[in-house]
Amino acid sequence: MYDEKAHLPDGIAGLILKSSTPTMPQRVVGRNGVLAGAEFDNIAHEYRSLHAANIKISGESPEYFAEYKIRDVAALTAGEKVSRILDFGAGIGASVPYFRRYFPEAGLTCVDVSKVSLNIGESRFPGQATFQLFDGRTLPLSDESFDLVFAACVFHHIDHAEHVSLLQELHRVLRPRGRLVIFEHNPLNPLTVHAVNTCPFDENAKLVTARVMCARFKAAGFPNPIITYRIFFPHILEKLRPLEAHLAWLPLGAQYFVAAKKS
Ligand SMILES: C[S@@+](CC[C@H](N)C(=O)[O-])C[C@H]1O[C@@H](n2cnc3c(N)ncnc32)[C@H](O)[C@@H]1O
Repeated sequence: MYDEKAHLPDGIAGLILKSSTPTMPQRVVGRNGVLAGAEFDNIAHEYRSLHAANIKISGESPEYFAEYKIRDVAALTAGEKVSRILDFGAGIGASVPYFRRYFPEAGLTCVDVSKVSLNIGESRFPGQATFQLFDGRTLPLSDESFDLVFAACVFHHIDHAEHVSLLQELHRVLRPRGRLVIFEHNPLNPLTVHAVNTCPFDENAKLVTARVMCARFKAAGFPNPIITYRIFFPHILEKLRPLEAHLAWLPLGAQYFVAAKKS
């Protein structure tokens, strides 16, 4: 079994506001100072703890953020046939338990460029998904083999020049009328920007607005993408959360998702 604590450096919370601290996880730097593709290999064992500390101000856990996304996807796809799901950039498998809860009958494939993350995911959730390494360009998956493709907080870690071609890859593996749902941090929300700027594993992140993501969906062949803004209230204001359903249009939520069907 994967034991996260066994891999934790001391005083991990102290890392959060000091990204230059010498105890930062080592990073793989390629030519021209650009990080190599699998930068998450270097922080995979600390990923959950770093994430938890970074979002502490929200009063919620990484599991809260993982679950709301899958609950939203389940609501969006209610009544549709969803028996094959791809979690693109699945990392250490944060979404796996919630896919199992909300889509208990569906097959789940998790892909990522980080082998270490996938290994951790597989040891946390044995037998609950298939974990496959991805070269960052061509998915090792057949055309039209998924009903639903999902990605959570992945695209801001990918060079923007590659977004459209990767969205085309996701389009290729979706069946006709299948859905693509991409969740991202909203760069128009100041608290989100602060969290990203102080998060060690977001050091190289380049956020993307929902409008730009929509334009990239269209360029990749998805005709009618829809934006939904999410996460307006921290835990301390949770009583106000029922209002969020009426705020989906307001570009101030901490996160958003763009969803579209393949024609
Ligand atoms: C912030 S983590 C999110 C992980 C997971 N989706 C979650 O919600 O916890 C970003 C993930 O994207 C992965 N990633 C980065 N570039 C990628 C690429 N080109 N293709 C697929 N995954 C990628 C990283 O390895 C990392 O696991």
